[in-house]
Amino acid sequence: MILILLGPPGAGKGTQAKLLAQQYGVPHISTGDMFRDHKARGTPLGKKIQAIMDAGGLVTDDVTNEMVKDRLSQPDVAPGFILDGYPRTVNQAQYLDLLLRSLGRTIDKVVSYEVAEETVIERISGRRSCPKCGAVYHVSQNPPKRSGYCDRDVTPLVQREDDKPENVRKRMQEYGTKTEPLKRFYRERGLVAEIEGVGTPEGILAATRKALGR
Ligand code: AP5
Repeated sequence: MILILLGPPGAGKGTQAKLLAQQYGVPHISTGDMFRDHKARGTPLGKKIQAIMDAGGLVTDDVTNEMVKDRLSQPDVAPGFILDGYPRTVNQAQYLDLLLRSLGRTIDKVVSYEVAEETVIERISGRRSCPKCGAVYHVSQNPPKRSGYCDRDVTPLVQREDDKPENVRKRMQEYGTKTEPLKRFYRERGLVAEIEGVGTPEGILAATRKALGR
């Protein structure tokens, strides 16, 4: 199964991707997580993209496409995979088409999570994550057991630099101009399922599974 998750920043793509990956036993591939990992390790790529990411801009298509190509060459993607945050531009979507064709594979579904702007801003402002294991919380909707600390490894939680209000505005703009047109790109091929991304994560998961028919 090859699934693409679309939706504005804070729509819940990462939350749903983790649940879907567990349900279907396929890897969750998040380009945002991959870039954050490079940043955290201080790799040459991490240093190159740090300022762009922190300010809420998009990393260049070439760099992103190359990273995804490498990831899709790994054996664990054989049963399928869930793409979260990629593609994000029409250029990336065209590149993915070519890449999948060369691998003899096709996209099964593009799930677009529809969430109002005020809701995503509330979600983003309350998001906290664990810099060690990547677990994601929300201060009121999904709080850790001990306030400010990761349930799994007791690491102090942090707010993402790009979750600060001035950077969120830039991300929303980037989404509107560069990523939202992808819905039309995939709708023309009959691949899009629009899901209301409001309610409990479990309820949204159930709606997604229904749309996928499995
Ligand atoms: P990325 O990490 O992909 O960020 P994003 O698309 O802005 O998405 P978010 O991670 O903000 O939100 P989400 O939809 O995953 O929501 P989540 O589940 O966490 O990308 C970051 C940056 O990397 C980009 O800005 C760019 O610089 C770069 N990048 C990445 N991919 C790129 C690409 N392809 N090309 C170029 N550059 C790229 O949920 C949000 C919060 O809400 C959490 O606190 C969560 O607990 C809570 N929540 C989730 N679901 C619910 C619910 N149902 N009810 C209540 N709260 C909920």
